[in-house]
Amino acid sequence: VVLLAAKILRGKEFAEAFKRDAYDRARALEEKYGVTPGLAVVLVGEDPASQVYVRNKDKACAQLALFSRVVKLPETATKQEVLAAVDELNADARIHGILVQLPLPAALRGVEREITDRIDPKKDVDGFHPVNVGRLVSGEPGLIPCTPHGVLKMLQMAGIEMDGKRAVVVGRSNIVGKPMASLLLAQNATVTICHSHTRDLPAVTREADILVAAVGRPRFITADMVKPGAAVIDVGINRIAPKKLVGDVDFEAVSEVAGAITPVPGGVGLLTVAMLMENVVTAAEQQAAARA
Ligand SMILES: NC(=O)c1ccc[n+]([C@@H]2O[C@H](COP(=O)([O-])OP(=O)(O)OC[C@H]3O[C@@H](n4cnc5c(N)ncnc54)[C@H](OP(=O)(O)O)[C@@H]3O)[C@@H](O)[C@H]2O)c1
Repeated sequence: VVLLAAKILRGKEFAEAFKRDAYDRARALEEKYGVTPGLAVVLVGEDPASQVYVRNKDKACAQLALFSRVVKLPETATKQEVLAAVDELNADARIHGILVQLPLPAALRGVEREITDRIDPKKDVDGFHPVNVGRLVSGEPGLIPCTPHGVLKMLQMAGIEMDGKRAVVVGRSNIVGKPMASLLLAQNATVTICHSHTRDLPAVTREADILVAAVGRPRFITADMVKPGAAVIDVGINRIAPKKLVGDVDFEAVSEVAGAITPVPGGVGLLTVAMLMENVVTAAEQQAAARA
């Protein structure tokens, strides 16, 4: 009996490769146009998790010698004040990428969309603006949401064939599930999107050569839901104890069935900030070329 163990796709190796690539492209841009790619993050209020995320983005910029600005607004900021900050960054030639850190304070929750839609689509490095969503769906070049973009690049770099394969994405959010499905479709996979109304989910997931879980439920994908040899990508990040994070996939059991699998922590989570850096460089390349 040969025990088959899945190949573990570690986020760190891929994230480092993506960052090296972003670094090289940033230097090439400086040489060609004298432009250093710049990111601005708008942070409203004092949410502790948001502060950590913003600090990590700022650090990643420093690591890659990109220009970075954090615009901090108080918890009490009005919609007009946040929009004015976005307008100023839209007009700032040193800034090629803008993101508004979500969630916004409770008082602004109802106008989140209005605020993020104010970002110039050329600078929308989160890829959430309707213009970029439309471009992704219609297969035109634009800015692609970081997490699914990172998953796509990891699949490509790992040599996982997508053309003609069955891909199943569990989750249909605008930030992960839907863009992930569009990206897999563009690679000629046959794509199924599942959600909380899907009937007999295990029967659908068992068809998948590539299974992406973006559900937000700890260890939701069990071994009996996975086709032997499948590539299983776990986007979920679930805190089940103060210091214990697990994914949406039952890693221990599924890794005995799958052909390749991403761990949590140490998997997809590490790709997101690396892809944000890449998006900032891509945005800067597009803006510099348009100005030249
Ligand atoms: N950097 C990263 O690695 C990164 C980035 C973003 C998110 N995440 C993580 O990824 C996970 C998903 O994030 P998200 O923002 O996409 O979450 P979300 O907006 O809450 O979406 C979850 C999706 O899962 C579906 N779902 C829930 N219960 C289900 C069930 N029992 N069966 C089938 N589908 C079910 C929901 O279906 P309905 O639409 O029918 O409700 C929904 O489409 C979270 O754990 C999040 O923390 C990680």
